[in-house]
Amino acid sequence: MTLLLRPEQVQAYERDGFVFPVDVLTPQEVSQWRAELQAWEQARGAAIDFPEKSKSYLLFNWADQLVHHPRILDAVEDLIGPDILVYHSTLFIKEAHTPAYVRWHQDSSYFYLEPHLHVTAWVALSDASVRAGCMRALPGSHRWGAFAHDDKPDPLNMIKRGQGISDRFDHESGTLMPVSAGQMSLHHTDLVHASGANDNDDRRIGYAISYIPAQVRPIGEIRPSALRVRGRSHGHFADEQRLDAPLSPLAYERHAAALALFRARQDAGFIPTGANT
Ligand code: NI
Repeated sequence: MTLLLRPEQVQAYERDGFVFPVDVLTPQEVSQWRAELQAWEQARGAAIDFPEKSKSYLLFNWADQLVHHPRILDAVEDLIGPDILVYHSTLFIKEAHTPAYVRWHQDSSYFYLEPHLHVTAWVALSDASVRAGCMRALPGSHRWGAFAHDDKPDPLNMIKRGQGISDRFDHESGTLMPVSAGQMSLHHTDLVHASGANDNDDRRIGYAISYIPAQVRPIGEIRPSALRVRGRSHGHFADEQRLDAPLSPLAYERHAAALALFRARQDAGFIPTGANT
């Protein structure tokens, strides 16, 4: 018995490494949460950027609501089981008519978690059409093993360090994954994926939530934090506390602490499994 996904959608995820589109938000939810985000941007006079666009669920009501959304969690539970943590989240905004892009990559290459069971829910707060630079993925690539990644930082690359796979796949490969506002796609952490420029008149707003089953562990000695959102924690991560007062000094303090741990794990890089403690 599945909670939200149809059995053939679960099979598609297992076969292809992704499934889309999945309807999750009402039009009211989309407009309310987009308005909250944009009111904050307007008040500060600039688009959201780092650090607020990482782990936004520790700062903003709209993001807290999204990571706890029952329909999103039902679909995620259908794929990874009932004990669910949020390990990370990133808000990917491509402004209208901008060439921002993401290189071919596997999320697992910079998450440093084992085993590779986590799933990213990419939730659209505006239409992510083909023209708007939606995600593109290579079907079945979550079973092809780990590819070598290199860092090519570039202001137009939406991933900060610019990690990606060089010279293997061209820009036209794979399956396009358009989703409308209020829909999401779900992809496996080993899936090879990318995305192109936004040639639309609207900004493309996608909230990528990295969910992990609680039995997953961080590689190495640094113990990053995660937020339990359903079921029970298995004690492999420091516990994050759910946001209670959005944008308060305490929220900023907890957000900074969680990001520092996440960065420390990232900066430690890859440590072979044998070196695990
Ligand atoms: Ni990715």
